[in-house]
Amino acid sequence: MFQTYLSTNGPHRASSRCKGETNARQTNACFAAPDHRVPAVISLIGNTPLVRLTSVTRSLPGKVSLLVKLEGMNPGGSVKDRAALFIVQEALCTGKLAPGKILIDATSGNTGIAYAMLGAALGFPVRLAMAANVGPERIRILQAYGAEVILTDPEARTDGARRMVRDLVAASPELYFHADQYSNPANPLAHYLTTGPEIWRQSGGKITHFVAGMGTSGTMMGVGRYLRERNPAIQLIGVQPDRAQHSITGLKYLAADDVPAIYDPAGVDRIVEISGEEAQEMARRLAREEGLFVGISAGAAVAAAIRIAQELDEGVIVALLPDGGFKYTSAPFWAE
Ligand SMILES: Cc1ncc(COP(=O)(O)O)c(C=O)c1O
Repeated sequence: MFQTYLSTNGPHRASSRCKGETNARQTNACFAAPDHRVPAVISLIGNTPLVRLTSVTRSLPGKVSLLVKLEGMNPGGSVKDRAALFIVQEALCTGKLAPGKILIDATSGNTGIAYAMLGAALGFPVRLAMAANVGPERIRILQAYGAEVILTDPEARTDGARRMVRDLVAASPELYFHADQYSNPANPLAHYLTTGPEIWRQSGGKITHFVAGMGTSGTMMGVGRYLRERNPAIQLIGVQPDRAQHSITGLKYLAADDVPAIYDPAGVDRIVEISGEEAQEMARRLAREEGLFVGISAGAAVAAAIRIAQELDEGVIVALLPDGGFKYTSAPFWAE
């Protein structure tokens, strides 16, 4: 039912009803705004621009173009609005997120912000666990939306936050809907049904390489599956940090971290490792040379895309830029 509902309606044409639901209370609960209307923020998720880089790509061969998908243009400021919407939509439609329940999850920030935005618009409480070394901006944004934030051991990174959430849910299962973005199939499904088709359409089917950083891996698994179905020759390039203790917010070093259940190694053709310094340098260059103020993982994606581009004579590379730079302004590297 979920699959049918989402594939026919999708978040851009979100309906206030769940197809196939016969129980009236459950039907209305799908988008539980008090007047049963779909809140405006939901209609703003997705359909982000795909634009061509012109400056940082100057030294590339003329027949190679690098297009970037600006996911920071989503209303919650990141690509994670898509996954959070599908996760929440499925939970509301199936009754897993019912009145009296709190949505809980671990996050590096963006998914939490997306849940908090949806919780505010749809009227459900949100509790989030994040490593304590996340910047002050993300905590403030979450507080602005009215979410509750639990800070966990910074040394244990997001895996520590995930353990905290598992413990809380085990202690009071009746209290929570555990959204679990690392294992929830609605996360890659959001990208299979929205981000992938958008990229295919916006590139006029000319895309030859898709480059995306991997955190939960939802973006790569969903977009990659869709693009391979359209053209199996498209190369799928996953980006990850080059070490376990890294500064590229949102990405995972899969060799040392807990591997997300939704991750399938067969879902990528190649992995490119980028250092924190390279990611920061490229984020700075994108701001100063392209006028695009994007986040650090976006810098990593473009750095990886340029590395791939340097190996080609021709091609159309699409890199996904997960968010804007605004929630990282306290990081000192911008001023260097
Ligand atoms: C800033 C940022 N970049 C990249 C990612 C990775 O996206 P995904 O979880 O779909 O792999 C995330 C995920 O939270 C993120 O917040």
